[in-house]
Amino acid sequence: MATLLIYGSYGYNGRLIAGEATDRGLEPILAGRDGEALAEQAADLGLEHRRFDLSDPAVVAEELSDVDCVLNCAGPFSNTADELVEACLESGTDYVDITGEIPVIERIRRRSDEAEDAGITLFPATGLSSVPMDCLAAHLAERLPGATHLALGAETFRPPSVGSITTLLEGLEDGGAIRDEGRLVHVPAGWKSRRIDFGRGTRPAVTMPLGDVSTSYYTTGVPNVEVYVFAPPPTRLALRAHRYVAPLLATGPVREGLKRVAQVAREGPSERARERGSTYFWGEASDGDERVVSRLRMSDPYVVTGACALAVTERVLDGEVSPGYRTPAGEFGPEFVLGIDEAAGFFDEGTP
Ligand SMILES: NC(=O)c1ccc[n+]([C@@H]2O[C@H](COP(=O)([O-])OP(=O)(O)OC[C@H]3O[C@@H](n4cnc5c(N)ncnc54)[C@H](OP(=O)(O)O)[C@@H]3O)[C@@H](O)[C@H]2O)c1
Repeated sequence: MATLLIYGSYGYNGRLIAGEATDRGLEPILAGRDGEALAEQAADLGLEHRRFDLSDPAVVAEELSDVDCVLNCAGPFSNTADELVEACLESGTDYVDITGEIPVIERIRRRSDEAEDAGITLFPATGLSSVPMDCLAAHLAERLPGATHLALGAETFRPPSVGSITTLLEGLEDGGAIRDEGRLVHVPAGWKSRRIDFGRGTRPAVTMPLGDVSTSYYTTGVPNVEVYVFAPPPTRLALRAHRYVAPLLATGPVREGLKRVAQVAREGPSERARERGSTYFWGEASDGDERVVSRLRMSDPYVVTGACALAVTERVLDGEVSPGYRTPAGEFGPEFVLGIDEAAGFFDEGTP
């Protein structure tokens, strides 16, 4: 059996993914920088564990020398992805992660040639961002060949995990981002708003710098991409206010204070909350004349993240994915998401 190592296995998403991987019979090696948390988790799951931090590339490469694929769940990925990718290039290990951070995806993509030379796959953003919306984007691009604009969006009601909050805070300093004629353009947080029917009636939504701004462009080649999330009034107000407080957020003490607040939610969404969760995805492609809309429904965002990440990881482990930077629908086609979790099919609207 090919060897999988899950880095950051004792974080909120890492725990869910390690448990699910074990249920699927993958027997991953658990890894991270907290020996105690690892030992406890490894005993619970009956798995091997390795403690190493990411400060010394040579040590990381050595730890990965007998590993076929790393699944990185340690975020914010701005602090972990470059280090693990560097080591993977050295050790010849395939790399998969669940980042939704645009700068991280862009940096990994720039190493595609190096990865091809090393014979390894670089597969970032295999969680909620970007598997469902990447497949939706590819489906829309097939429905409307020659589309010039893509708008994608997600609606969910789950409270985020502490890691997601911390990562959001890290990214807040940069504001938002969209794709404009193929270029990544920085815009303020919550730059545009519109009302979107994600599948349960029209809701207010604002632009968000999710990883899909990067991924869906590389998959479809559609040059203009905006990504929206459902935003109830308090969120919209907070985002508007963020334009004025962003310089303040950039100061270390304020950021650290907000992170401490986030630690209060350490446990993350409960099992019961996950069981009841659902996520609605919406996408629109247009070419100036025609417009098509498709939708997709899946379960809880964290369940979706684990299911998507493991669906990709299993294919990488099986040797089905070629070397270089890869995107979900670019590699497996738009239907890849169907059958993962509860995604039964695309709901299409519009003529083509
Ligand atoms: N793309 C998506 O759709 C999606 C979905 C869900 C989550 N995410 C992202 O996944 C990440 C993890 O979320 P979470 O809720 O699992 O967070 P979490 O509970 O805070 O866990 C984070 C994990 O990362 C490790 N870590 C963080 N920084 C590290 C570093 N510099 N070196 C080594 N290990 C480090 C932590 O280890 P220590 O405890 O030792 O620090 C911990 O194991 C977040 O960035 C989140 O935004 C993305």
